[in-house]
Amino acid sequence: MKIFIDTAELDEIREAISWGIIDGVTTNPSLIKKAVDKRNGKISMEDYIKEIVKTAPGPVSLEVIGQTSEEMIRQGRMLHEKFSSFGEVAIKIPINPSIEEDDRLDFEGLKAIRQLSMEGIQVNVTLIMTPEQALLAAKAGAAYASPFAGRIDDYIRANLGMKRGKDFQKGDYFDYDLLCRAREKKLNEAMENAKSIREIYESRDVNSLVSQGQDNGVYSGVDLIARILRIYRAYGFKTEVIAASIRNPRQVREVAELGVHIATLPFDVLRGMVKHYKTAEGMRRFMDDVVPQYRILFEE
Ligand code: E4P
Repeated sequence: MKIFIDTAELDEIREAISWGIIDGVTTNPSLIKKAVDKRNGKISMEDYIKEIVKTAPGPVSLEVIGQTSEEMIRQGRMLHEKFSSFGEVAIKIPINPSIEEDDRLDFEGLKAIRQLSMEGIQVNVTLIMTPEQALLAAKAGAAYASPFAGRIDDYIRANLGMKRGKDFQKGDYFDYDLLCRAREKKLNEAMENAKSIREIYESRDVNSLVSQGQDNGVYSGVDLIARILRIYRAYGFKTEVIAASIRNPRQVREVAELGVHIATLPFDVLRGMVKHYKTAEGMRRFMDDVVPQYRILFEE
């Protein structure tokens, strides 16, 4: 599994690269905003991004800000032209740039993905929330598809009536196994007195229980990634899946178990991956047990 760092902070990128585990970088407008705010506007964006691209050992994903295919294609070409001589660049295109209910822009992302990919520019399709969107991204020729695991977990928890910041925190693990077991139990109770299968199938209670804690048959962010990988493998798509919007180390473990091609991880998640209470305790014990005869070995 390749690991990308999900940040626009040059210091974080440099530090993580020094650990020898980074294969690329992903940014988005919110991450760029954070990096810019921190520097109080005292930087040239172009020079800053050049530095990121020069520093990264693999592709740096840079996002367009347009909503029509013409704008996105133009911006994608510009980003590629400005920065690809300094390193590898992938252009992030939203699967669907439409913001409002208005559906006129629905296919603009696909058009841009297709055109830029045909021009040999690597496209990283962003904001993927369903396996269906991922299928379309691969068909359009994307080099990478980025499903947003954490945001799907947020969405499912919101559908259950849970509020982020109150009932759960951004980095909390979403235990969908527990949720499935709870749903199963409730369903069995609801079905107990039914006289026919049809009665169960049509029951409002059963239907409302079935739809709770899922998003149209997707049960968690990790489940979203599992389903996309299954589709890509079934048809031999070359598009690589980047597990994005990853919020905690356990999600990283689960997407690694699925054999995801790439996970893009924020700095704090990387830090979390190296930590364990018993590792620190073991370290403390070993350090306490160092005898002078052993210490002498390390004297110059
Ligand atoms: C990376 O490509 C995504 O933009 C990023 O992982 C989104 O993460 P978030 O949902 O934590 O903002």
